[in-house]
Amino acid sequence: MIPINAPQIGEEEIEAVVKVMKSGVLTHGLGAGPMVTKFENAFAKFVKAKHAIAVNAGTAALHLAIVGAGIKRGDEVILPSFTFVATAEMIVMAGAKPVFVDINPETYNISPEKIEKAVTKKVKAIMSVDLYGLPADMQQIREIAEKHEIAVIEDSCQAHGASYKGKPPGAFADTACWSFYASKNMTTGEGGMITTNNDEVAEKMRFMRSHGEKEKYESLMLGHNYHMTEIHAAIGYIQLKKLPKFLARRRENSKRLSAKLRKTESLKLPKEPKGYKHSWYLYTVKLKGTKRKKRDKVVEALKQKGIGAQVYYTNPIHRMPYYRKFGKYRLQETEKAAKQVFSLPVHPGVTSKQIDFIAETVLHSIT
Ligand SMILES: Cc1ncc(COP(=O)(O)O)c(C=O)c1O
Repeated sequence: MIPINAPQIGEEEIEAVVKVMKSGVLTHGLGAGPMVTKFENAFAKFVKAKHAIAVNAGTAALHLAIVGAGIKRGDEVILPSFTFVATAEMIVMAGAKPVFVDINPETYNISPEKIEKAVTKKVKAIMSVDLYGLPADMQQIREIAEKHEIAVIEDSCQAHGASYKGKPPGAFADTACWSFYASKNMTTGEGGMITTNNDEVAEKMRFMRSHGEKEKYESLMLGHNYHMTEIHAAIGYIQLKKLPKFLARRRENSKRLSAKLRKTESLKLPKEPKGYKHSWYLYTVKLKGTKRKKRDKVVEALKQKGIGAQVYYTNPIHRMPYYRKFGKYRLQETEKAAKQVFSLPVHPGVTSKQIDFIAETVLHSIT
């Protein structure tokens, strides 16, 4: 099976882990050991942010960013429903209500026009998602947020290496949240990072990462144990160095796949609009005008041929049993995309020959 994504781990990561294990320093009581600090500094530089705060998952990053923005019980946060559940989950965890907004069918990202219509006095933040690795329309989102004096949190968990108007994710947001889950463009197994240019918010999130402590036994606020271990940071530091190579390979594979799939009118191929740089975390096509059943059949046929095609996100969050209580939504474009899209492997481990095989098999399966 050609998996949809696969961690690219080499001898360097293994050696780095062994070195940390032998050092005896596996973690730090306040969350920032020497390897974690080294990784944070390198990551901050990579995304041109003033601060990077490493945590143990992208989900933890989202939680800290939301609470760090001052979101509390009774507040509302706007977000897309067409995303991984953690985006909404952490809003609810912070005591706020998720307000789901439809997507732009061209990019699958939250529609700024529809955000504008959903802003009320209770809305305190917009949580945009750079879905599949393509940045959301951050300038428009920033303008809406400034007009209404609300925060912007960018879920860039899928967007390592992406950019928008020449700037990395986070440049138009108050904070950006990153995931290093095993499937991501760079990984620590599990792990996350928050980046921000705001000194005050960064300090608060550092305390909250570690039981609200600035110093041991001096908790200033409620917090968590969201520490990243030294072992994970050592892997992340090496992966970050390799990221440009991984990204180039993903880009090359995506380009080759698009060139072959362009032969058919039945598929809507992923776009990289002018001014946007895709991270190609997921190469996602839409089977135009089809029903869920037909799309699922195509995905199953690809799996039978050894191609790990996958559907992200077949059930949008507003339709999940737990989240239905937050309101009856009719999100036409979200629901259509959930029925029609599927993703194909383009990760750095996929060879050009395999891309050709994937393209031929897809063209054959949809006819
Ligand atoms: C869009 C999005 N948000 C949040 C997350 C949560 O990240 P993690 O799995 O590291 O907790 C992920 C990744 O899984 C994601 O893709």
